[in-house]
Amino acid sequence: MSALHHLVPAPWAYSAGTGELEFDAGTTVGADPELSGPRRWLARALGAATGWDLVPAPASEAGIRLLLDPALDAEAYRLEVSDAVVISAGGAAGAFYGAQTLLQLMGPAALRQAPVGTVEGWPVPRVSVEDKPRFGYRGTMLDVARHFMPKDNVLRFIEVMAMHKLNVLHLHLTDDQGWRIQINRYPKLTETGAWRQESSLGSWRAGVFDGRPHGGFYTQDDLREIVAFAAERHITVIPEVDVPGHSQAAIAAYPELGAGDGPVEVWTRWGINETVLEVSETSLEFYRNVLDEVVEIFPSPWISLGGDEVPLTQWQASAQAQAKAAELGLDDVSGLHSWFVGQLALHLKGHGRATSVWDEIGDGGLPDGALVASWRGYEGGIDALRNGYDVVMCPEHKLYLDHRQADGDDEPVPVGFVTTLQAVYEFEPLPGLEGTDFPGRLLGAQANIWSEHLDSPRRVQFAAFPRLSAIAEVFWSNPEGRDYDEFLTRLTASHLARLDAMGVEYRPLSGPTPWQQRPGVEGWKRDYDAEQLVRN
Ligand code: ACM
Repeated sequence: MSALHHLVPAPWAYSAGTGELEFDAGTTVGADPELSGPRRWLARALGAATGWDLVPAPASEAGIRLLLDPALDAEAYRLEVSDAVVISAGGAAGAFYGAQTLLQLMGPAALRQAPVGTVEGWPVPRVSVEDKPRFGYRGTMLDVARHFMPKDNVLRFIEVMAMHKLNVLHLHLTDDQGWRIQINRYPKLTETGAWRQESSLGSWRAGVFDGRPHGGFYTQDDLREIVAFAAERHITVIPEVDVPGHSQAAIAAYPELGAGDGPVEVWTRWGINETVLEVSETSLEFYRNVLDEVVEIFPSPWISLGGDEVPLTQWQASAQAQAKAAELGLDDVSGLHSWFVGQLALHLKGHGRATSVWDEIGDGGLPDGALVASWRGYEGGIDALRNGYDVVMCPEHKLYLDHRQADGDDEPVPVGFVTTLQAVYEFEPLPGLEGTDFPGRLLGAQANIWSEHLDSPRRVQFAAFPRLSAIAEVFWSNPEGRDYDEFLTRLTASHLARLDAMGVEYRPLSGPTPWQQRPGVEGWKRDYDAEQLVRN
């Protein structure tokens, strides 16, 4: 099989024909009116890589035809390369995925942003592909709060996600260490909350700080641009505003939000933080106003309110919190956690949006219609499915890409569990419970990229790839017959070259290069123990 056939993620059905079709500068692109978005994207991508104009032509006559086939699902497509390229799709998303497959078939250079030399003709292997996703939600979470990722790098990350047919980007926009979204009504959130004095260097347990200020935020127009760029690539951006823990940056900007005594600074350390929001009308009103701006920027059906890792220390010490819990008829202050998130979920419901939450919220009662992201293992997700909720699986011991990729000391700032390429390739969202008829729906799964130790886009790429390539295949492809060695063949023969062409600095399969290592910076290696899932 020609190396060009090594598609990632693997399609559901594939057969190679004989010979090749040759594109040239006169090749035309046409689409049914419903598929004009993917046609425009494909003409731009091919135009960039070839230097050709790829003029539009009627769908029935073009050299590359994007045709609507209502018999197919919205994300499904058929790709036939014979004397023309015909992509038939159930909707614009399916046509877009067909276009991505076509680019992969054209070889790595088709993924470059300008031609390498003069291009006379471009061969495309004759093939027949039938394809569709396994899951409707194929997510990646990017933590831009711990280390800010400049907008251009976010756009590029989205382009690489799209090449892998991933379709949800969960942006973790706020945390103790930084607030990254401009809110017009509360300018201090970014004036004060978007930068910190310095950061823990490596694991916070080492007690070492880097002495270097860090900061950055996205304007509302930056985020609108990110959302529109992602939408053109059929990726939904879910914003996360994390409450009532992970909120020290907001409290640093507006001290009246805090449950503790006295002002705080944007946190410089990693780890779980005892500083939490006060459960009061003041903080609820503040966050309702924040969310009013968030929903104007992000059309996503879900808005994430986070809700993870909320120590009770400050509420236990607070007369106000005790009184609030009593007023609400709660047994103790622990109930304030899901009550607070529930109030904001009601506000989002008023905007026609569902709430996404980390699975901790399930311990105290989930908001109606919540989407549960199950990170503390599988159990939170399984409970939520049993109780009729939508679920996305992202268990820490399987799908956290900040965790070290091998057991050696060469891994940069080695934290967490060893999470190898093979291990993520063998991930299953409901092991042992496949096919169970739960009242709730498993929408899919998500890889989470936390950035305490990923202090640059290069470091994010090293953590993400090629593991995210393997994960994309788990989320998209037929799990039957999945074979790691066969995946490795496609990866090494073709897919790493695609990542190279896109400028992705993935981790080499042989291990990190010297400049990808961080000698002397302490990590925190853990062995997996389901009883002790505590991050960082
Ligand atoms: C999380 O990892 N705290 C969701």
